[in-house]
Amino acid sequence: MEQICVIGVGYVGLVTGACFADLGNRVIALDVNEKRIEGLKQGVMPIYEPGLKELVERNVRAGRLFFTTSYAEALKGTGYVFIAVGTPSGVNGEADMQYVAAAARSIAENMTAPLIIVNKSTVPVGTGDWVADIVRSAQPRPLPFSVVSCPEFLREGTAIADFMNPHRTVLGSLDRQAAEKVAQLHLPLNAPILITDLRTAEMIKYASNAFLATKISFINEIADICEALGADVREVAKGMGYDKRIGPAMLEAGLGWGGSCFPKDVKALAYMAEEKGVPPSILKTVMATNYERRRMAVRKVDAMLGGLNGKVIGLLGLAFKPNTDDMREAPSIDIAHGLIAGGARLRAYDPVAMENARALLPAVDMFDDPYVMAKGCDALIVVTEWNEFKQLDLKKLKRQMRTPVLFDGRNVYDPVEMRKLGFVYQGVGRGYEAKE
Ligand code: UDX
Ligand code: UDX
Repeated sequence: MEQICVIGVGYVGLVTGACFADLGNRVIALDVNEKRIEGLKQGVMPIYEPGLKELVERNVRAGRLFFTTSYAEALKGTGYVFIAVGTPSGVNGEADMQYVAAAARSIAENMTAPLIIVNKSTVPVGTGDWVADIVRSAQPRPLPFSVVSCPEFLREGTAIADFMNPHRTVLGSLDRQAAEKVAQLHLPLNAPILITDLRTAEMIKYASNAFLATKISFINEIADICEALGADVREVAKGMGYDKRIGPAMLEAGLGWGGSCFPKDVKALAYMAEEKGVPPSILKTVMATNYERRRMAVRKVDAMLGGLNGKVIGLLGLAFKPNTDDMREAPSIDIAHGLIAGGARLRAYDPVAMENARALLPAVDMFDDPYVMAKGCDALIVVTEWNEFKQLDLKKLKRQMRTPVLFDGRNVYDPVEMRKLGFVYQGVGRGYEAKE
């Protein structure tokens, strides 16, 4: 059993802390946000992540997981401190590092014994060295410490399973011994562990996310070509995915990628490249085509309705993907703005993201029930592929609508079935429809 401190109880920090506690460690989770810590002490989760509440409660009850806002308390007797604070995009796409800097300074000011500082947040290449400099200069008296980069690869919605069954653990440090100690913490996870230098570890995270975003943008371009040529992108992706060199994951065409990671990481990588004079031409195209998906959705619905002005349009789903309440960079935001600019009135239903969405989309009427939401709509758009949308009573849904127009931005429904039911239906990249 080791004592670990995790800084930041956001998506990454809280999951990391609760999972390390579940592996038998003593974990102290720290956040500067008092409301979040008070809430956690009462069993209120600051974010929605399936299974997290149960995991947190179980480990709190077992006396392995604690919450605090005090660095002094958190670092007492702690051998490892994981930094998992946010690194949002700054104005030019560079990562905003003020929270990491603040965490590093607080660690330096409050450490009383040698420490291994592990960086979980996605940070620009070179941050490990920078964190070491901050800690060194902010320490009131010199105490030994090492910095290790251990990038996270957690997906929201499946973060706990991703932590417990990782494809790999990547560790980077100038201090091999420190990296090996952190490797020990990850041994119960039974995954390959790659130990490398700091900058390479930091780069692996960016390269991985940029590659996955590229894969999605690629299949979206293929979807447009399928649509024009009369092929079905879902079958094309399936056929491609059997090739082990390609693999089936991240080949779902639709409205493109959003969320807290891909947009900011691709932007940050492009920014770092340009700063060094390397033209990031693939990354730039990947970003441009991704944001074009959102405009495409507005154009499609405009064409299906013969104009947006005065139309009532319902959004099924708001979160950037299913199983999360996260609205960061959600395609729904740009799509809603585009529809509103065209003169449409909007309504929406999302199983968990409506509370977060209200502040971002004040002009959109939110409903607690998808059927009530659909009442009087001229069109519906599936923006997020929540499982519960697959189970909707489509006949009932259609009866509620003024005109049964449905644009399925995530290919949730079967086009043939939908047409049989009397919907004016369009999916993404399913060009064979035109041939029937
Ligand atoms: C994380 C990572 O840090 C980011 O780099 C990665 O790419 C995606 O996930 P996330 O967990 O999603 O970010 O962030 P968020 O949910 O915003 O949580 C960050 C937490 O850190 C917040 O609770 C915030 O209060 C806390 N924080 C921030 C601190 O405790 N100290 C600070 O100085 C700043
Ligand atoms: C991602 C990475 O997968 C994870 O490894 C990293 O640590 C954080 O960023 P996350 O953003 O939670 O995780 O979600 P992910 O499931 O990867 O989806 C990202 C976006 O791509 C979503 O907007 C999703 O809708 C979209 N997507 C995903 C597609 O459009 N098609 C796909 O086939 C897969």
